[in-house]
Amino acid sequence: MAVEGAPLNWTELFGTLPVVLEIGFGGGEAVVALAAARPDEAIVGVDVHTPGVAHVLDAVEANGWRHVRVVDGDVLEFLPRVPAGSLESVRMYFPDPWPKNKQRHRRLFRPDVVSALVDRLRVGGSLHVATDVEDYARQVVEVAEADGRLRGGVVARPEWRPLTRFEQRGLDAGRTPHDLIYERLH
Ligand SMILES: C[S@@+](CC[C@H](N)C(=O)[O-])C[C@H]1O[C@@H](n2cnc3c(N)ncnc32)[C@H](O)[C@@H]1O
Repeated sequence: MAVEGAPLNWTELFGTLPVVLEIGFGGGEAVVALAAARPDEAIVGVDVHTPGVAHVLDAVEANGWRHVRVVDGDVLEFLPRVPAGSLESVRMYFPDPWPKNKQRHRRLFRPDVVSALVDRLRVGGSLHVATDVEDYARQVVEVAEADGRLRGGVVARPEWRPLTRFEQRGLDAGRTPHDLIYERLH
């Protein structure tokens, strides 16, 4: 699916299926596992120049999936194509940590990006972030609370969330994953 272009019509693409956006899918483990587990949910995965694109496309072809699309590009360039209030859920699993102070402005979970994502969630829809960087989890709480339209916070790791490459790498290094789930209230 092209990064830039006219606003998308989900009904034309997916019929009545609710639509989930997974940002930064990396190797594509979560996209593929959840696409297989949930044929009643459409998934649009977005990542920049990752070998994971090929992995997801191979799975789409092998399984004949019509409920999965891949965007090979920057989510910030893609978002204008996503209609307001049209998403069931947004997932961001192990976003790039940008640990140094001077790099933090690059973190994807920042106020302007989160505001644009919440605009595109339906009321009652969810925003799910997983990170194993303590300071990033704190930033998620701060930014989500400041948005004013979200309610939620830290939850136990959902059993259904597939293990990804970055999560495994963190576990091997002794880090603890944190899941945060928010609902759009209004
Ligand atoms: C640390 S990796 C995590 C990958 C995967 N979710 C996982 O858990 O293994 C972060 C991913 O976000 C992607 N990413 C970073 N900025 C992005 C952006 N602006 N648009 C789309 N993807 C982005 C990177 O290319 C990378 O694949």
